[in-house]
Amino acid sequence: MKTALQLLESFRSRFGTSSTVYRAPGRVNLIGEHTDYNDGFVLPAAIGFCCWVAAARRSDRKLVIHSENFNETVEASLDSLAPPSKKHWANYPLGVAWALEKSGKRVSGANLFIAGEVPLGAGLSSSAAVEVAVGFALLNQSGYDVDRTELAKLCQRAENEFVGARVGIMDQFVSCHGRAGHALLLDCRSLEFELVKIPADVQLVICNTMVKHEIDSGEYNARRAECEEGVRKLRSVLPGIRALRDATIAQLEEPRGLLDQKVYSRCRHVITENDRVTKAVEAFRHGDLQALGPLMRDSHRSLRDDYQVSCRELDLMTEIAVAQPGVIGARMTGGGFGGCTVNLVEAPAADEFKRQVSAQYFEKTGKRPEIYVSSASEGARQMEADAVRPAI
Ligand code: GLA
Repeated sequence: MKTALQLLESFRSRFGTSSTVYRAPGRVNLIGEHTDYNDGFVLPAAIGFCCWVAAARRSDRKLVIHSENFNETVEASLDSLAPPSKKHWANYPLGVAWALEKSGKRVSGANLFIAGEVPLGAGLSSSAAVEVAVGFALLNQSGYDVDRTELAKLCQRAENEFVGARVGIMDQFVSCHGRAGHALLLDCRSLEFELVKIPADVQLVICNTMVKHEIDSGEYNARRAECEEGVRKLRSVLPGIRALRDATIAQLEEPRGLLDQKVYSRCRHVITENDRVTKAVEAFRHGDLQALGPLMRDSHRSLRDDYQVSCRELDLMTEIAVAQPGVIGARMTGGGFGGCTVNLVEAPAADEFKRQVSAQYFEKTGKRPEIYVSSASEGARQMEADAVRPAI
């Protein structure tokens, strides 16, 4: 984990001046997968890994952005930002500046030093962390107050329209609004949210299959399109529905003949998953942790069979996890096609869980998994110079 001081020093040795430090976390989603872009419900938590940005204002309209992870510096003029044709790490920060300007904000030129500690391609939202940290920095450096919900929406717009991935709002939202010790129940239509306390004796254990999760592989956008097709077809019998969020499972069953099998399965996942989120929140609220296991299991199966976004390694990691003592529930988390599983584990069992899962997964795949024990963390912050302590 970095400190604000390290960032200040790195910035000074690159740009020769003082700076202000910001950070924004990645996330893990407890349940509610592929529901956000269907106006549904999600239950993510911010994690301890963050993207850090040190920033200082410039007097011109240039952005000079250095990435520690890629060891590369990119320069761009705020007056000529346009969606790029090629994949590049700088598309994320530049996209945020572009979205801020599009929304009518006048962004100041700035030097930025970016250091990400969220594992890349692990499905833990390293991109949302970069976007939110950069957005927070640019707003603050340009003299604007930060409205967290607005920032989340701008970052989503950057990813949708500049980077070209049609992601939902979940990752950016929880990176902005996360709270230590809590998951966040978000209604992705109204953007109203409630904090859901995670009991102190439950650990979030995140197991990385080490299979790269490729969100821009086209599969994600394809799933979204299939959901939209489902809504279009269902609308002929349910004229009131705007998104899959508005349909019940009974309403999906009745006109089943209208939908081809694949679209039907995609819709069934989304509708049943929304229901599981509501039930999981009730379980947390009533301290009925045992109810979470079957909900997480069913979520995983639905993502595997109906939504078809799991992979062999995610299935295996989940199977190994549920056989361990002290596990409350396990499932894949995030967009899928690789990346991580999320596991709720009774705190005293966490170390042994980690050891066992790691050994058994290695034995079966030859891959050494990374396993992170994280607590739910705070959302984006400006940092004080001399501490890891947030300034506001
Ligand atoms: C990615 C996207 C999110 C969400 C998840 C799946 O993380 O960025 O918006 O759709 O996949 O739940």
